[in-house]
Amino acid sequence: MRIAVFGTGYVGLVTGACLADVGHQVMCVDVDAAKIEGLQRGVIPIYEPGLEAIVRRNHDEGRLAFTTDAARAVAFGELQFIAVGTPPDEDGSADLQYVLAVARTIGRHMDAYKIVVDKSTVPVGTAERVGEAIARELATRDVSIDFDVCSNPEFLKEGAAIEDFTKSARIVVGTDSERVRAAMRECYGPYSRNHDKILFMDVRAAELTKYAANAMLATKISFMNEIANLAERLGADVEQVRLGIGSDPRIGYHFIYPGCGYGGSCFPKDVQALARTAREVGYEAELLDAVESVNHRQKRVLFDKLVQVFDGDLAGRTIALWGLAFKPDTDDMREAPSRVLMEALWAAGARVRAFDPQAMAETARIYGVREDLELVPERYDAVDGADALVICTEWKPFRAADFARLRTLLARPVVVDGRNLYDPRILREAGLMYYAVGRGESL
Ligand code: UGA
Repeated sequence: MRIAVFGTGYVGLVTGACLADVGHQVMCVDVDAAKIEGLQRGVIPIYEPGLEAIVRRNHDEGRLAFTTDAARAVAFGELQFIAVGTPPDEDGSADLQYVLAVARTIGRHMDAYKIVVDKSTVPVGTAERVGEAIARELATRDVSIDFDVCSNPEFLKEGAAIEDFTKSARIVVGTDSERVRAAMRECYGPYSRNHDKILFMDVRAAELTKYAANAMLATKISFMNEIANLAERLGADVEQVRLGIGSDPRIGYHFIYPGCGYGGSCFPKDVQALARTAREVGYEAELLDAVESVNHRQKRVLFDKLVQVFDGDLAGRTIALWGLAFKPDTDDMREAPSRVLMEALWAAGARVRAFDPQAMAETARIYGVREDLELVPERYDAVDGADALVICTEWKPFRAADFARLRTLLARPVVVDGRNLYDPRILREAGLMYYAVGRGESL
């Protein structure tokens, strides 16, 4: 098939590259000329394991093209994927200006039947608005060309996006058209060979499915963080509780890891947007509001622990940070718990010395050069002479640490672990004061 993908961000690039990799002809479009020019040379604007190789291979073999020429892409693709950003508005709702701009572009240039596929995470009702925007452009041109709009939300995790795309649990397509069903079967057929993964449903149900999935996952995390905070005050170890409840197949082990809060570009934005949508239709989504506020509070937990350890006296102290990205295997700093911690430490007059395997350039870009932030190339450099070590991201190499070395390097033997990576007994035996999340030590 010939496929156009609007937006070469995270979702668009992964979608375009993976669809090319199974033999489709894909043209990716973006308004950012520098990005397109880079992609033509094989420069990938984001860090995502495995993506660069797929982009390069398919580009070299002529199945994946990059352009800023929207008219060409509209003419090219039978399918027109919209995968541009939907950043949160000031009021928490999703900003649809980029999605609707692409819709207008498609309406302006199309000269034959097109299937428009909403891939971006968009509120319920957006497919209708996309259809109206296209229809208005066609009316302006005084032409009558048939088209369909369907919803095909993505369920990719950053850091595992290729795997999630190629081995997805399900492919959700919202449409009421048989023509669209046939085309989407052809598009995703190569990924649906062993068993049929495509779930066809109504457009509005598909749009809501995306938000419901993310809200459910965020709810699991906030629930577990609530239990962790409670466990801490009750002298119970939440890690034992996690295993105790996860062993029930109705609950399951996934997504019940307590920690310093969820971040990223999806959960915070989507939970807020869904709560906002609810309000718009006159419904107070109390659970969603609670999920959001528990997470907000959880991002302060590490700072609060430091305040208690140092009796409120953080001015002039150096705090070492392991992990800046909102989760491992990404350089994404959006809504990262580390940011809340660093900003609180700076406000309290402390210095931060940080290491992250991928996100240091992004951190430098966000905060610029400042006296109280030092980014170091090696994790033990961060700890040398520091008053405490705080772990914000569960990068794999952090799971095993040389505790004796930490004990020697730290000026004060304090380890605050926002991801519960270590066995508290082993750290205490190594002479370290260890504070994790919900592990029985009520500070
Ligand atoms: C999330 C969803 O997992 C994807 O299915 C969805 O497609 C994507 O959002 C999206 O809407 O595009 P992502 O934001 O990449 O993916 O990250 P996750 O791996 O889900 O992690 C989100 C946050 O939750 C991280 O900060 C992570 O540390 C935290 N988390 C996760 C926990 O605190 N505890 C857990 O048990 C799991």
